[in-house]
Amino acid sequence: MIQLAPSILAADFSQLGQQVARIEEGGAHLVHVDVMDGHFVPNISFGAAVMKSLAGKTALPFDVHLMIERPDDYLEEFITPQTEYITVHQEACIHLHRTLQHIRAAGAKAGVSINPATPLCMLEEVLEEADLILIMSVNPGFGGQKMIPACLRKIEELKRIREKRNLEYRIEIDGGVNLDNIGRVAQAGTDIIVAGSAAFGAEDIPQRVRDLIRRAELSE
Ligand code: DX5
Ligand code: ZN
Repeated sequence: MIQLAPSILAADFSQLGQQVARIEEGGAHLVHVDVMDGHFVPNISFGAAVMKSLAGKTALPFDVHLMIERPDDYLEEFITPQTEYITVHQEACIHLHRTLQHIRAAGAKAGVSINPATPLCMLEEVLEEADLILIMSVNPGFGGQKMIPACLRKIEELKRIREKRNLEYRIEIDGGVNLDNIGRVAQAGTDIIVAGSAAFGAEDIPQRVRDLIRRAELSE
């Protein structure tokens, strides 16, 4: 089943609780939590305290995307009863295998992400350790960018590898997804689709969430 994970990076932070209630009303499956440190990416967003403030405001599971250096030092802070995935960047982890094991041991599903410039082969040796592979379809750091369509090839390849090697990871895409391209994204074999501005930028957020999910499901 295809899942939609709206990114709160594009939400109105002054009313975050209500905004997240809107995506839940529309049938979103996860809340995507974009954490940026101003080092790994050229922008600072928010930390675990903001994510934790949503506990009780929504029943949706958290899909945490750590765009930070030294993620091992911080990941325990993001473990909550609602935390489903914690994703780190391959480019930020010297001992990626150990970091993925650390996430699982801490009690979340382990995700790993690669930037548009990083080839898929960099994940070759950790595919068994990952519950989620997140393909960046923009250079991370900012919402509202245009999708780099070449990244869809990585999704197709990940799907082939999963079948061939009988693996279990889920495949996620992040960056520049909108109503016009979500069909292609779903067709490529994506399991979880992140949408920031396409979801929270709409006048009627629940309706936009429904529309995005419907278009994705039609093309699956
Ligand atoms: C990019 C973030 C994305 C971003 C998506 O650095 O990881 O999750 O917020 O936003 P849109 O969908 O607006 O590209
Ligand atoms: Zn993200």
